[in-house]
Amino acid sequence: MRQQIVAGNWKMNKTLEEGIELTRAIVEKVEKANGLVVIAPPFPYLRDLGNMLKGHKHFHLAAQNCHQEEKGAYTGEVSAEMLASVGCEFVIIGHSERRQYFNEMNDVLAAKVNVTLARGMRPIFCCGEPLDIRAVNMHDGYVAQQLIEGLFHLNEDDFRNVVIAYEPIWAIGTGLTASSQQAQDMHESIRALVSEKYGKTVADLTPILYGGSCNAQNASELFSRPDVDGGLIGGAALKSDDFAAIVAALK
Ligand code: 13P
Repeated sequence: MRQQIVAGNWKMNKTLEEGIELTRAIVEKVEKANGLVVIAPPFPYLRDLGNMLKGHKHFHLAAQNCHQEEKGAYTGEVSAEMLASVGCEFVIIGHSERRQYFNEMNDVLAAKVNVTLARGMRPIFCCGEPLDIRAVNMHDGYVAQQLIEGLFHLNEDDFRNVVIAYEPIWAIGTGLTASSQQAQDMHESIRALVSEKYGKTVADLTPILYGGSCNAQNASELFSRPDVDGGLIGGAALKSDDFAAIVAALK
């Protein structure tokens, strides 16, 4: 069976002290997992929290973003090399908040995917449509374009390291979850697109996570769908009980 993953995207939340406490509680409550558990805290805590996760089976460290250039005069930015050097194994790329508030377009995201892979880390590439696109039933094509422009330049070997996260924008932080059928339909269409480009074997191995108001109550139903391979969790990743319950819902 392909890899199942629950990833917690903390976004811009928690102080260092709170982050340490949350990590401690999560590690204590998640004794086993039917897959990988990924924690994506803010940059300044990566090293400390990464050290806390070391030696705990299932746990992996992720960054929420990286810069697309290797290094240089980019004041305030963080490179993929830096992230790898503090123990990151994954980088979230193309989150809708990055696309919306920081104008990150697919060509920049493709470059971020490249630097991430070049440093031996795995991109968690986010895609997803806004409400007005879903309202006119154009969501499949919209998401397809994000994947084609952001990922499909990769060769097969590199693509095998990619994780895709489908996060419908209208479901993020709104309490409005996609129904498990809506999630399954989109994940199936994403997998078909990957299969067309890279073949069925690669498509069958690609983890596709769902994100958007996924919580302790709805995770089992979402994860029970055949093409939903776990979740990228925002709000519910900030509470150890909820996050642990979501991990426990992995099939
Ligand atoms: P919520 O779980 O808070 O809706 O956020 C989802 C998300 O954006 C994860 O990256």
